[in-house]
Amino acid sequence: MSISLGIIGAGRIGRVHASALTARVPGAKLLAIADVFADSARAAARDFSIPDYTADPGELINSGALDAVVICSSTDTHVRFIREAAAAGKHIFCEKPIDQDLAAIDRALAAVADAGVQLQIGFNRRFDANHLRLKRAIEAGEIGVPHTLTIISRDPAPPPLDYIKVSGGLMMDMMIHDFDMCRYLLGEVSEIFAMADCLVDPAIGAAGDIDTAKVLLRFENGALGTIENSRQTVYGYDQRVEVFGSGGAASSANVYPDQVTISSAESLRRSLPLHFFLERYYESYVTEMRLFVEALAQDKAVPVTGEDGRVPVLMALAGMRSLCERRPVKLAEVAAGA
Ligand SMILES: NC(=O)c1ccc[n+]([C@@H]2O[C@H](COP(=O)([O-])OP(=O)(O)OC[C@H]3O[C@@H](n4cnc5c(N)ncnc54)[C@H](O)[C@@H]3O)[C@@H](O)[C@H]2O)c1
Repeated sequence: MSISLGIIGAGRIGRVHASALTARVPGAKLLAIADVFADSARAAARDFSIPDYTADPGELINSGALDAVVICSSTDTHVRFIREAAAAGKHIFCEKPIDQDLAAIDRALAAVADAGVQLQIGFNRRFDANHLRLKRAIEAGEIGVPHTLTIISRDPAPPPLDYIKVSGGLMMDMMIHDFDMCRYLLGEVSEIFAMADCLVDPAIGAAGDIDTAKVLLRFENGALGTIENSRQTVYGYDQRVEVFGSGGAASSANVYPDQVTISSAESLRRSLPLHFFLERYYESYVTEMRLFVEALAQDKAVPVTGEDGRVPVLMALAGMRSLCERRPVKLAEVAAGA
């Protein structure tokens, strides 16, 4: 059975999903793409041989030809498009974060439940080969009882200031992937303590954000974790994870474009890591889309649910409150609206 899809948002991530859906996902038929900028939609339709494009997302959502909608527009549009797509009876894939506001997320998830459609959230890193292997090691007991989790997640360079201003900030936009990774690997977090600053570019601070952050986490199962984020890394995208436990440790290294070491009298040299998320995580984007289409075609549950999209937003809100109030914050306080 094939699944017909349309994409809303022909920007960076919309084009990634378009390339996967048109070339790498069995059973997927990408029929249309929408963007408020018609030129962006037209260019994507041309580049990926998508039959139809429009500047009106509503037209795409209400098209009788589509089974599912893939929401890749800016974060502040996600809830509206989720609700409209659910009302039109379409299954939904939505990029992270669903929204920055828990009440708005709850309204979107209620609309999805009422319509009885499926919603998958774009936490692609779960499907990266390194992260899958770490998860398997933990689940198989290869490192005993996990005691600590260490995530280093540093971008090569900050996004444009215009993006930072609408993104919700580092914790909501960037660290949210690491919050998801915490839950994916070790389960629910109960408490967060954040320290952060602007050490890369004061303009980021002037835009109301941070660019360097360390976050301590306590898991419900007793394990402890840390996440380190930076918006700028001179040697490229730095993505490493270690889980340490009673029976050993499992760690993942950066991924390189080649495995060559150049040895000389002065030094050992090698290529820099794959430069950014589009290169480093491309296969994980293909896999998440393959699993989404497979779930719809086989009437199975999607692998990353609306609740999986909601909890990392709660974690980001707890992290931001911790930063503001300079104290550890329990997720329960934020969930209760205290
Ligand atoms: N999962 C990931 O790794 C990942 C990576 C990048 C971005 N994202 C998420 O994807 C979303 C888009 O990010 P991006 O980097 O592609 O941004 P982008 O700015 O490159 O693209 C967004 C596109 O959406 C379009 N758009 C905005 N409002 C619209 C509307 N009302 N109707 C139709 N189109 C509209 C814009 O014109 C633009 O072309 C964000 O929520 C971001 O957090 C996720």
